[in-house]
Amino acid sequence: MVSFQLDEIHEQIRQTIRKFAQEEIAPTVVERDINSTYPKEIIKKLGELGFLGMTVSPEWGGSGLDTISYVIAMEEISKVDASVAVIFSVHNSLVNWIFEKYGSNYLKEKYLRRLVTGELIGAYALSEPEAGSDATQIKTSATKFGNHWVLNGTKNWITTGENADIYVVFANTNFELRHKGITCFAIEKGTKGFEPGKKEDKMGLRSSDTTSIGLTNVEVPEENVIGNVGEGFYIAMNGLNGGRIGIAAQALGIAQGAFEAAVRYAKERVTFGKPIIEHQLIQAKLAQMSMKINAARLLIYKAAWLRDNGYDHIQEAAEAKLFASTIANEITREAVQIHGGYGYVREYHVERMMRDAKVTEIYEGTSEIQQLVIAKEIIKKM
Ligand code: CAA
Repeated sequence: MVSFQLDEIHEQIRQTIRKFAQEEIAPTVVERDINSTYPKEIIKKLGELGFLGMTVSPEWGGSGLDTISYVIAMEEISKVDASVAVIFSVHNSLVNWIFEKYGSNYLKEKYLRRLVTGELIGAYALSEPEAGSDATQIKTSATKFGNHWVLNGTKNWITTGENADIYVVFANTNFELRHKGITCFAIEKGTKGFEPGKKEDKMGLRSSDTTSIGLTNVEVPEENVIGNVGEGFYIAMNGLNGGRIGIAAQALGIAQGAFEAAVRYAKERVTFGKPIIEHQLIQAKLAQMSMKINAARLLIYKAAWLRDNGYDHIQEAAEAKLFASTIANEITREAVQIHGGYGYVREYHVERMMRDAKVTEIYEGTSEIQQLVIAKEIIKKM
């Protein structure tokens, strides 16, 4: 049976998070963008409301909601502030998910229980200066000494690199095995030799901190290995399958936010004796924007549904992300265009949305990588 109707719980989640975004996130979004301020209080409140463990099972203190609920929350937050959304996304869909799916009970007791309340905030550290898209080639090494591992290397582009408390870090324990030597570790902030670098001065997502991380002889106890030794690359990839759905929803939210701003403005702005929404050239733009947003939402919901129901969704997640990030860039550009000169100033928000949208084509696998992933799946299946 195919149903395009969300159930009551999904609608309630949408209303709750929408209200939260309007009341708690919107008032400070411009100021945080200008000053690159981490939204500490907002993240804390999201934790208090149960949103920082929304997909984690109640057994570990989470809300036990599905991926569609998470996607709805991502869209609503991103409509207002894509920076808050990326912190939320990495925490939920990469870090929590990896701890719940692959972590030992010891790690779940120690970290997951505190991640779901927001007492701890998570970061995911795979990329390196010379291994972003080509993730099998990471150079960070892990060597075993007695009952602990020693890690050395550099991570790059780490979301919440400065403000996170617990990091899921990938390192190679046997380079001869290529990706089959990669292992996943949980590393606490403050561990000796684990040093977040300077915050990147970014084009968009300015209130989410992105840093490099230096690892110099970082000692990690063996019980902090997540999953099995050598299983790390699959953990990283399976995490990204969900992460990509989240970033697709982020792109969708940015696009929806820009679209709504454009419609509002087009109703108010008068040129040639009538509101610009009555000009057919503006109507054509709005029709195209709406069609693309609705198509993206369907792709995202389908990928989320497949994930929730235990079906393979590598291709669908990549397609959702590729499509949503492409249209988010088109739509934010059009929203600026509809606003004319006002679109080029901060007060009207759409210039920030246009800057924020760009990264959705770059991170968690560039648009080029998504096409590679989709093509690999097509070749595998046909
Ligand atoms: N899901 C599950 N398994 C996957 C997978 C996926 N999406 N992609 C690859 N794999 C598996 C393959 O099936 C293969 O398995 P076997 O060992 O059984 O053969 C194995 O992983 C290796 O895959 P490939 O042979 O296809 O490797 P490749 O090097 O040719 O290509 C890639 C791999 C798809 C390009 C992969 O490297 C990739 O997705 N790269 C992008 C990484 C990325 O998104 N990085 C951003 C991380 S975000 C970050 O670090 C910062 C932050 O703050 C979030």
